[in-house]
Amino acid sequence: MFDDKFVWGVASSAYQVEGTDPDDGRGKTVWDTFTEQGRIFQNQNAYTSCDNMHHYKDDYALMKNLGIKAYRFSLNWARILPEGTGRVNEKAVSMYRDMILTMKENGITPYITLFHWEFPQALQEKGGWLNEEVVDWFGEYAKVVAENFSDICEDFITINEPQCVVGLGHLSGVHAPGLKLSVPETFQIAHNLLKAHGQAVINLRKYAKQKIRIGFAPTGGVAYPYTDSAEDIEAARKVYFGFYNPMDNWTWNISWFSDPVFLGHYPKEGLEKFKEYLPEITEADMQLIHQPLDFMGQNIYNGYYVRQGADGEPEFVDREPGFPKTACNWPVTPKAFYYGIKFLTERYQLPLYITENGMSCHDNVSFDGRVHDNDRITFLDSYIGAMQRAYDEGVDIRGYFQWTFLDNFEWSEGYKERFGMIYVDFMTQRRIVKDSAFWYQDVIKTNGGNLSMNQTTKEILFLDPVCTHNIWGGTRLREDFHYPVEGDDLGECWGISAHPNGDGTLRDCGFSGMKLSELWKKHPEVFGNVDSDRFPLLIKIIDAKDDLSIQVHPDDDYAKVHENGSLGKTECWYILDCKENATIVIGHNAGTKEELSRMIHEGKWSEFIREIPIKKGDFLQIDPGTVHAIKGGTLILETQQNSDITYRVYDYGRLSNGKPRELHIDKSIDVITVPAKSVADSVKSVADLPVNTLNELYVCKYFHIYKIEVSGKMTFEQNAPFMNMTVTEGNGIVNGQPVKKGDHFILPNGFGNVELQGRMQIIASTI
Ligand code: GAL
Repeated sequence: MFDDKFVWGVASSAYQVEGTDPDDGRGKTVWDTFTEQGRIFQNQNAYTSCDNMHHYKDDYALMKNLGIKAYRFSLNWARILPEGTGRVNEKAVSMYRDMILTMKENGITPYITLFHWEFPQALQEKGGWLNEEVVDWFGEYAKVVAENFSDICEDFITINEPQCVVGLGHLSGVHAPGLKLSVPETFQIAHNLLKAHGQAVINLRKYAKQKIRIGFAPTGGVAYPYTDSAEDIEAARKVYFGFYNPMDNWTWNISWFSDPVFLGHYPKEGLEKFKEYLPEITEADMQLIHQPLDFMGQNIYNGYYVRQGADGEPEFVDREPGFPKTACNWPVTPKAFYYGIKFLTERYQLPLYITENGMSCHDNVSFDGRVHDNDRITFLDSYIGAMQRAYDEGVDIRGYFQWTFLDNFEWSEGYKERFGMIYVDFMTQRRIVKDSAFWYQDVIKTNGGNLSMNQTTKEILFLDPVCTHNIWGGTRLREDFHYPVEGDDLGECWGISAHPNGDGTLRDCGFSGMKLSELWKKHPEVFGNVDSDRFPLLIKIIDAKDDLSIQVHPDDDYAKVHENGSLGKTECWYILDCKENATIVIGHNAGTKEELSRMIHEGKWSEFIREIPIKKGDFLQIDPGTVHAIKGGTLILETQQNSDITYRVYDYGRLSNGKPRELHIDKSIDVITVPAKSVADSVKSVADLPVNTLNELYVCKYFHIYKIEVSGKMTFEQNAPFMNMTVTEGNGIVNGQPVKKGDHFILPNGFGNVELQGRMQIIASTI
């Protein structure tokens, strides 16, 4: 979680939200010209947009009500200096002053961006960014900003996304001023822009009325590693700060813009690659660009995979089929956010603010009059969670500005893209608070406490089981349950197990690939922080084609002393299937320990063994000390303590690999309970229990066992530390997840409402 000093904000820009007024005295920007030329989506324009200039009092009140602490907004250069230089429009100054003061009255800290693309048309006509005088023009504007606003604002950002200004505005021409200049001209523009940044820093500080902080807000997709291996991370870092784009796309570059500003030089690799296109670059230029800054900003929206290729060089990797994306088709890549934050802070060593991050959604007003933008919540939750991961690792990240508060004018896309946490009806100027804004309010209030990374998982934890080969095993685990295992001697499926002899692997959840034992150790909260050094239960399906040996298990105390600290074994069986007239061995006929010892030593097996009839749907509790054996043709679901200690009393004289299997006569005699529990107490039929009910079969110190027969729909509350489930018949849906016979899964702590439907039988257990 973040600390109380962390700056939680929202971001916007002047041109995208303000709108205009016939008497506002502003000058035109290049975007007015561009939209008048009809060069954007549906010939739209920003003359009204969200009309924030007439609604800011209400909009800031809304921000305050939602707990927003900081607002990054821009000033419109052409509103303040209608000709770009010279005459100051006092109406603009007083509007912006009132805006800032109103923010502050509402407890919102202002962060001013000087230039978020509102380039004065008057200066465009003098050559715009291509004219080197732009350095002085921007410097003059910075002086005016310092003189008029630095008494009431302490945080300033010079330029937003130079990559877009140069690339979209002057190379591809999809943004104003819509030029397609030559590559050398765009390098000249980039150089002028960086110098203008430096001049603005100088003038802001020189004319500021108090000590101010200044940053810069570049952008760029993040090259991030395909896996977390050291090689892939290095490959991604190399691409992120490298020069892999073709020349007609060269401006999507991090280091070309950030190295001069933060490190004082252009990157060597770039100087080499771009040498034929570069303008004259002097020592004095570099000094001007390299002004001391207080923080770095970075706008991060997404990234692309890179890994180390076979030749040791970075290689680009396609996104996975069906990757998540936003309404404007940008990929959703939270991991890129984490790596971007790490890479930038490592290289530039300045406190970082995420100056923009967010997504456009297909937002619409629902029948209840509200806007349920769940995709945005999922997006922000994963990105802010990724940011927390970096923060927890000690990265110096100070703040986060969500893009954006109000749906607004999305540049060349007009009003097509809704990026806001507040819905705007552009026909009426009505605002509706989307669900994401309330969610963000909680993020702010709890410093990230409500992020899902700070909650225990609510996901169903599916397990891939481990199957074993046994001399008495058969083929039903493969044929009936479809476990992908070979062999005609498949005896046991360890379905939910963290035992070293069969540790299950998680699948289809946030912990996919992890072993259950590891999850138990690393995330005890998933299991309700139960006080136990190991996952306490073990669930198996047993297919006995032939008879199992006659066995008995020790209890905890005996196992602890004689079996190296192991747990004892209390277990129970649910008979999934058996032959007609099937029997099972449970208990024995000895009346005293002496008699027991004699029967065993003298091999009086027919006298000793107690065999009783069973049928499908029977339930048997096997306490330690109970002699037992499954007979051939029986299929059972076993729930037991997490232990693999069995004492074999008798093996019908069978040979395995030509030799008899080991017997454990002395230990067996030690632990067998004499006399045995009565037959009536040993078996009960639970075949016909009410449907759609959590039927409790048995409770002991170690487990609670339930049977559920789903027919249609049912729900119940999962309030135990965790609940194991195995589907033993049929198929259905559990909380949106299709499940079928043979599936094993765990419902974690705090899971709450379990919604089941379909036709299926489930055996469940808790501790
Ligand atoms: C950024 C830009 C913002 C906003 C956002 C969403 O590149 O700075 O003004 O439009 O993207 O597209």
